[in-house]
Amino acid sequence: MNLIIMGLPGAGKGTQAERIIDAYGIPHISTGDMFRDAMKNETALGLEAKSYIDKGALVPDEVTNGIVRDRLAESDTNSGFLLDGFPRTIEQTNALEEILKSLDKKIDAVINIHVEPEVLIERLAGRFICRDCGATYHKVNNAPKVEGTCDRCGGHNFYQREDDKPETVKNRLSVNITGSQPILDFYNDSNLLHTIDGNREISAVFGDVKSIIDGI
Ligand code: AP5
Ligand code: MG
Repeated sequence: MNLIIMGLPGAGKGTQAERIIDAYGIPHISTGDMFRDAMKNETALGLEAKSYIDKGALVPDEVTNGIVRDRLAESDTNSGFLLDGFPRTIEQTNALEEILKSLDKKIDAVINIHVEPEVLIERLAGRFICRDCGATYHKVNNAPKVEGTCDRCGGHNFYQREDDKPETVKNRLSVNITGSQPILDFYNDSNLLHTIDGNREISAVFGDVKSIIDGI
């Protein structure tokens, strides 16, 4: 089962991805997470990505396509994968088609989580993440059951993303709003697109996600 999860910054891609990988056991391939890991480890990729991510801009296609090409060639993707945050430009969409063709794979469904941009600013401002396992929370909408303790791993270290500052969020939203429509059109024309309402309880959104996946 080869899936793509799409949606504007803060729509809930990562939140739903956590639930999908727990329920279906496929690897989660998030280009944003890969760039953040590289930034943390101060690799050449990380230093290059940081100059774009800090401004809320997209990392150049050739860099992003390269890391996805390498990742999809790894054997754990043979039983399926979940792409999160890729593709984000029509060039990346075309590159993905070519990568999948070379690997004799195809996409089974594209799940697009739709949320109005006004809601997203507040979601990103309140987001915090477990430093130990990467689980995502929100101070109002999705707080840990026990304050200060991660539900998933029991850790107590949380952080906020550097690119969740209001001025960077504004740029991220405008870049993604402009870029996403041609990609949605492409997957709609391919009969792969499923758009769901992401402005509901996390569990209700996951109910729709599960129906789509179980219907494949
Ligand atoms: P990336 O990490 O992918 O960020 P993004 O697309 O901006 O999306 P987010 O991770 O911010 O949001 P999300 O949809 O995962 O929401 P979440 O589940 O966390 O990319 C970061 C940067 O890397 C990009 O800006 C770019 O520079 C670069 N990059 C990455 N991919 C690239 C590519 N392909 N090409 C070029 N550059 C690339 O939820 C958000 C908050 O809302 C959380 O607090 C959560 O608890 C809460 N929440 C979730 N669901 C709900 C709900 N249903 N109701 C209420 N609250 C909810
Ligand atoms: Mg995310």
